[in-house]
Parts: sequence; C-alpha cells; structure tokens
Amino acid sequence: MPRFPADFAWGVATSAYQIEGAVTEDGRGESVWDVFCRKPGAIRDGHTGDVAADHYHRWATDVRLMADLGLTAYRLSIAWPRIQPDGKGPANKAGLDFYDRLTDALLGRGITPVPTLFHWDLPQPLQDEDGGWLSRDTAQRFADYATLAAERLADRIPMWITLNEPFVVMAFGYALGIHAPGLELMLGALPVAHHQLLGHGLAASALRSAGVARVAIANNHSPAWPATDDPADVAAARAYDTLHNRLFADPLLLGSYPDLSAFGVGGMDCVLDGDLEVISAPLDALGVNYYSPTRLSALPGSELPFRMEPIPGYPVTAFGWPVIPAGLTEVLTMLAGRYGDRLPPVYITENGCSLRDEVAADGTVDDQPRIGYLEGHLRALHDAMTACVDVRGYFCWSLMDNFEWGEGYNQRFGLVHVDFDTQRRTPKASFGWYRDLIAAQRAGLPRA
Ligand code: FCB
Repeated sequence: MPRFPADFAWGVATSAYQIEGAVTEDGRGESVWDVFCRKPGAIRDGHTGDVAADHYHRWATDVRLMADLGLTAYRLSIAWPRIQPDGKGPANKAGLDFYDRLTDALLGRGITPVPTLFHWDLPQPLQDEDGGWLSRDTAQRFADYATLAAERLADRIPMWITLNEPFVVMAFGYALGIHAPGLELMLGALPVAHHQLLGHGLAASALRSAGVARVAIANNHSPAWPATDDPADVAAARAYDTLHNRLFADPLLLGSYPDLSAFGVGGMDCVLDGDLEVISAPLDALGVNYYSPTRLSALPGSELPFRMEPIPGYPVTAFGWPVIPAGLTEVLTMLAGRYGDRLPPVYITENGCSLRDEVAADGTVDDQPRIGYLEGHLRALHDAMTACVDVRGYFCWSLMDNFEWGEGYNQRFGLVHVDFDTQRRTPKASFGWYRDLIAAQRAGLPRA
C-alpha cells in the first residue's frame, strides 16, 4: 500500500438510525424512518431500526472497538429527533447528553468525532405539518437544530458535516418512494434538492456562529457511464450526471444550478433571491461517498430520460453493486476538473461493501473480498491524490453491521459482525487488516 500523508484522517462511518436503536428512550421523538418502517412491505422482511445495533446502550463497547482499530476520526450522525423531538423548540437535554458523553469518550481515546447533522432521520412532525424537505421552512428548522447541537459540542469538535447524500433523500425518499418518507413525486421532488441545499447553507452559517471551525457536506457521487456510444445513451448518461452529481455540487461550488432542460424543466422555481449566495458560501471540505459507477441507456418518452443498466465484467457485492475502484479515481478527478480551485479539500466520507458474512465455527469471520475492496479503493484514492486531488481522509462504511434502510439487516457492511439476536460483536478479518494498515501508516508518528 502506498504511503498516505502523515496527517491523513483514518476513520469509519456510521449513522444514528442505522445503529442506535432506543427509538423511544430519553425523550427521542419519532422520525420519518420510524414511520416508514411500519408501512407494510416498505422494508425487506419487515425489519425496523427499533433496536438496530443497540449502540445507544453499547456505545462504550463500540468506542473500545474503534480504539482497537487505531482510528484517528469517527464519522457519526446526530439524531435530530433526539435533540428536538418535534423538529422545533428547545433542546432535549438527555439527547444532547448522549452525544456529549460519546464525544468525550472518543476524544479520550484520541479519536476526533466528525458529526453529520442529518443522515435522513427527519423528525416526523416536520413531515406531517410542513411536508418535510418539500417545505422551505424545513431549511430554517434545520439551522435552528444545528445551533442547538453546536452550542453543546462545538467546543470539542472542529469539523461538522451538515447533510448526508441529499441526492438519495430527493431520489429515493421523495421521487421514487423507496425510502422515507415514501413519496413518489418523480420530478416534483426537485424542490427537495433546493431546500436541503438551502438548509445546508443556513446550517453552515449557524454552525460558524456557534464556533464550529470547519463545515462540510457529504454528497454521494457516481461516474455516469453511457451503456453504448449511441448519442441517445450518451445524452442519457449526461442527464443522469446532471441529476446525481451536478445538481448537488454546482450550486455549492459554482453558485448556480445546472441546465435541467433534459428533463423538460426550465429551472428551479423555488429558488429565491439570495439563496444561491447562502448555498455557495465557501466550504472547508467536501465529503464524497463513493460506492460504484452508474451505467445508463436512453429511455425515450419517460419523465426520467434514462434507465440504469447492469455493468457486466466486474465482481459484485452482496447488494449486486459492481466493484470498480477506478471509479473512485474517476469521480475525484472529475470533481477536480469541473470545480478547479473552488473544490475544497476532500474527505472520502463513505466507501465499503456488503457481503454475506457469517461467523464460522471457530468464531472468525473471514471476509477476504472486503479486504480486497478496501485495498483496491485506497489504492485508487491514492492514484487520485497523485493526480493532485487534495484528499485529507478516508472513512470506511461501516464500523459494524447495521440497519441498511430498505434492505433491513440483510446487507452487512461492517468491519465488525453483529449478531442481531444477541448483539454480540465479532471483529471480521477486515477489521484486523484495517487496524494493521492504520498502524503501518501511522508508524513513527506521534499519537494524536
Ligand atoms: C449510503 C448511505 C449509508 C449506507 C450506505 C451503504 O448511501 O449514506 O447510510 O446505507 O449507503
């Protein structure tokens, strides 16, 4: 493995709804995911995040696992409904206390927490009363919540992430109905992009006022590959690229929305004067989540003018996602090419793979393909850095197996296996591999 810079952040990522459980404890309010999980047929096998990996009770064990890995950073998410059960109003002290204890435990082990404020668990009352991210008001509510969290934690936490994957919230949650809140608005979901980005901008300013030093956002990016060189497929790939990559990066980094004419849309009607200035205030870092490229063919006569095609010729994960490390290099050089000097330092805020991991009779979990996946992607990342993309850290998704949204507990992404009947944690072979890699990279460096 090539050598990464001495101050490179080595991390793992998780999110609140996927690991915490304890959904009714200590005053936590209901989130859109609590409600969506109860909808018949919404989640595979009827699973819910009610218990998840029980991290709310087992956080001390999980911090010890992270210390064993030798991590320097941990990307967690804060559950908005723990801080503001109704999505507005004063803070719930018990909710803040949980993240306060966790923060101190992490710092005590030399691990810097990197919190994400919104990893999809919107308080349900904001959905019921205002339509969630369809409403402009939600952007201001989000900034208010950011203030409450930062007032308690900013003294110890330098870098914060506002949103996780606003594309997925818009596409899966509001356009296609396969994630919470389960709406099927197709292009009618476009305001969800703008209101989340506005929420990011308002929250970024609120975080800075509360003393946060560095603000980022975590977007997922995917190279859009045409299925053939037929001009119709090339146009389909370009349309997909607009929706997936540019719609969430151009406003942030260029201060303008991309051309949406491929969708028969004249522009973003919900944008008011001044919004783009708020959204494009300089970022301190860009989080990039990368899993795989997307291959597209034309779908004439449809509201969305593309169809996703399989990408043959590569190994696939348990999810069926193709394993293409070079796609990570491509994404990063694409961002550098598009945004040049406006691209801030990048962190890979998620990358990882799901496998059908099982604990063997001897108590081990031998996930060799995950080791191959991580190694390949870290090499691809290093290639991008050699090509002059400024990348400052890597967060593996995920510390431990967890609730994988619509797939329930059927996709295991962890470095640590979780038996969801007993909550027993078993570090997998990839855990030892990542621990040794971090130790080798940090050898000779002073401990943080
Ligand atoms: C990303 C999500 C994350 C996890 C991974 C597998 O889209 O941000 O929560 O589910 O996919």
